[in-house]
Amino acid sequence: MKTVVITGSARGLGLEMAKVFKQNKFNVVLSDLSIEKLNEAKEQLDKSIQFGQTEVCICDVTKASDIKTLISYTKQKFNKIDIWINNAGVNQPEKAIWELSENEINSVIDVDLKGTVIASKLIMEEMIKNKSGAIYNIEGYGSNDAMMLGLSIYGTSKRAITYFTEALAKESEERKTGVIVGKLSPGIMITDFITTALGNKEKINLSEKTKKVYNILGDYPDVVANFLVNKIISNTKNNVKIEWLTNKKAAWRFMTAAFNKRDFFKNRD
Ligand SMILES: NC(=O)c1ccc[n+]([C@@H]2O[C@H](COP(=O)([O-])OP(=O)(O)OC[C@H]3O[C@@H](n4cnc5c(N)ncnc54)[C@H](O)[C@@H]3O)[C@@H](O)[C@H]2O)c1
Repeated sequence: MKTVVITGSARGLGLEMAKVFKQNKFNVVLSDLSIEKLNEAKEQLDKSIQFGQTEVCICDVTKASDIKTLISYTKQKFNKIDIWINNAGVNQPEKAIWELSENEINSVIDVDLKGTVIASKLIMEEMIKNKSGAIYNIEGYGSNDAMMLGLSIYGTSKRAITYFTEALAKESEERKTGVIVGKLSPGIMITDFITTALGNKEKINLSEKTKKVYNILGDYPDVVANFLVNKIISNTKNNVKIEWLTNKKAAWRFMTAAFNKRDFFKNRD
């Protein structure tokens, strides 16, 4: 039985990906900031899916010691880690760059960029010992150079994640480590992420214009997770990009928007 570790998986995309892995008979290790939320997530998973084993482990990805604990905990439970997904992330407050405090800037970069970089380094060291494994990092707004006031620090981190992941894949190839590295591009998902900044510290009030775009391009995370995880499970190539919202799909969504009315926000705020 294979084992997957997903950071930031007490809710949202991380939890939905864990469900699909479990349905595919993987052992899953959920990790996040709060043990209460992790236990609730584990209960949800174990109640609905009989296959695989679920374990939980606290891990704040801004702390290398927590990441090391997550690795050793998983090894102790399941012996080996087959897939590691750096999913933990926070949104930024909707402000211009100079309006953000130093703490706000640091928080976003520490979780979204440094969390992924350090976790990738540590899990790479581990997977190299087995000469096998797969690491996936999550792209987001800014990965393709898109810019918008209020998303610049998040976008800076996600743009860097794209470069970093490709560089890691290249180095893994050159050193013949046996470890594959890839990017996951989930598009726009209707999760708590889009309406809260810095974890849950600050509310983001979406404008009517933004809601209109999200209604056209957005999807619930279970739909996206189903697509991503099935591709991850069948993937054997290094340096792949697994993309949900392709340009073609986005264009089709806009073209058919008049016939396909959706309102994700009716009962949300
Ligand atoms: N929602 C979207 O539209 C969207 C679009 C593109 C990319 N993404 C990316 O997808 C990933 C998941 O997003 P989501 O929408 O499920 O968000 P979410 O807010 O629902 O879930 C993120 C999880 O990360 C956890 N987390 C936050 N800081 C952490 C830390 N320091 N250590 C460990 N865990 C931490 C949170 O507690 C939460 O459970 C993120 O990397 C995000 O940037 C989201």
